[in-house]
Amino acid sequence: MAGPRHFLDLHHFDGGALRAMIEHAAKLKAASDRRSKLLEGRTLAMIFERPSTRTRMSFDVAMRQMGGSVVNVSPSELQLGRGESVGDTARVLSRYVDAVMIRAARAETMETFAAAASIPVINGLTDKTHPCQVMADVMTFEERLGPIGGRAIAWTGDGNNVAVSWVHAAVRFGFELRLACPANFEPPASVIDWAHREGGNVRVMAEPEEAVRGASAVVTDTWVSMHHTDGHVRHNVFARYQVNDRLMAQAAKDAIFMHCLPAHRGYEVTDAVIDGPRSAVWDEAENRLHAQKAILAHCLA
Ligand code: CP
Repeated sequence: MAGPRHFLDLHHFDGGALRAMIEHAAKLKAASDRRSKLLEGRTLAMIFERPSTRTRMSFDVAMRQMGGSVVNVSPSELQLGRGESVGDTARVLSRYVDAVMIRAARAETMETFAAAASIPVINGLTDKTHPCQVMADVMTFEERLGPIGGRAIAWTGDGNNVAVSWVHAAVRFGFELRLACPANFEPPASVIDWAHREGGNVRVMAEPEEAVRGASAVVTDTWVSMHHTDGHVRHNVFARYQVNDRLMAQAAKDAIFMHCLPAHRGYEVTDAVIDGPRSAVWDEAENRLHAQKAILAHCLA
């Protein structure tokens, strides 16, 4: 018997399944009435081990607009915070709700939860990946510039969890990804090796100018994520990876700027770029809602 329809990472899916979710998201966004009964009577539990604005709000509103409801908890409100195991928590929640979205400090927690759950589990970010974000990003790119397949996308800065999901997306959607990262801040070698084994066009380099040259999108993220304690060191290491007007000038004429937010203005991106005409960041944030709906529908329909 097939197990629950989890949404844990992009590389678990084939390109067709991910494409179908993007198309569904676009259709839901275009609908004259964004309310539906697609998930009427269904309940999503959301567990946040880390803070969130976009993921929390977009999943909550997505469920409500599709006729469902949400239970929102932090581990400290559950017996999980007092030592009940992750697996036992998953088994119990599986008896109450229809799906769980988890933002876990460690990917292993999410994987343990999903292995024990008999309902779909959705990855709302871990230290390793952020697949829901990159689904919204691909949707946003295509709204602005058309099909992403065959296009060149540049990532500059930390080879972090979001960058890893971009690598997965590059392989599954068939675009070129150039990642400019300082030494020791590249995505894990195992992820790049996987991309190459799958025939992906993914390259890691040191120079941001080389990555950005002629690219259709310039993407970055914070240099100091929620689990980092070495912020001062990071600000020095990443300074030359900042997305500013000088760097954007190296990209394609119609290139867009993307950032999953929250942004740290004056660090990874200047005000001029994030507030400028090439910035797609507010559309990315909005598209979290529409992409979330398609992911929930995939898991629960
Ligand atoms: N981009 C993103 O996941 O935002 P939140 O941390 O606010 O959810």
